[in-house]
Amino acid sequence: MSLLDVKRLSVNYGVIKALKGISFHVEKGEIVALIGANGAGKTTILHTLSGLIKPADGQIMYNDTDLVHTPGHKIVSLGMAHVPEGRRVFADMTVLQNLKMGAYTRNDAAEFQSTLEMVYKRFPRLEERKNQLSGTLSGGEQQMLAMGRALMSHPDIILMDEPSMGLSPIFVNEIFSIIEDVNKDGVTVLLVEQNAKKALTIADRAYVLETGSIVKEGIADELLSDESIRKAYLGE
Ligand SMILES: Nc1ncnc2c1ncn2[C@@H]1O[C@H](COP(=O)(O)OP(=O)(O)OP(=O)(O)O)[C@@H](O)[C@H]1O
Ligand SMILES: [Mg+2]
Repeated sequence: MSLLDVKRLSVNYGVIKALKGISFHVEKGEIVALIGANGAGKTTILHTLSGLIKPADGQIMYNDTDLVHTPGHKIVSLGMAHVPEGRRVFADMTVLQNLKMGAYTRNDAAEFQSTLEMVYKRFPRLEERKNQLSGTLSGGEQQMLAMGRALMSHPDIILMDEPSMGLSPIFVNEIFSIIEDVNKDGVTVLLVEQNAKKALTIADRAYVLETGSIVKEGIADELLSDESIRKAYLGE
């Protein structure tokens, strides 16, 4: 059984059909990339998985639970964490307060402390800046905070929306290598990216989305060398 199994998912915004019956699956332990141009529907997929948007049609099976009928606030406690597009940290709160918010589904103090230590170990910059207001962090540091906050909930799967957006190449490399490390520690990753090359380099498999439909899927390495993908998404 797949960790996540999405079938014939359709989402409309009024008359706009943002997702037109897409199906995909994510196996436990994988990094799966969703790539596609602006407006293809990538963020809409993640919002629907997290329960922020209810679909017009389709099924989202996560373990044994149909998320379509699960209220959004319960989804995090099922082990799914979302790192939203544009980071969305709480700007007026400190780094530590943001990390505490990520752990709101857990109330064991000892466990909180050990998870915090794990996050600080992964992101030493966050520990150095734990009392800094999050709105004053650099873009790359805010991305780290958004990831750290998601990890505070001990997710089984993490949904990442454009983690490389607006970051310098060095920071992009750092963020992607952290995503790989988090995955090696057992967290499944669904990665939405415009930076298709980077995403395909770390992913096991990928789906290509065009105006609300999946037009191609396969092993990431094979898509990296696919002529049509190279032309359309890798700028080659
Ligand atoms: N709240 C909304 N109301 C109306 N239309 C929306 C809404 N949110 C998204 N859309 C439309 O749905 C389509 C898919 O948007 P979505 O944000 O999922 O794309 P995306 O693949 O994440 O794009 P990007 O790479 O630019 O982030 C777009 O045409 C967008 O304009
Ligand atoms: Mg988007």
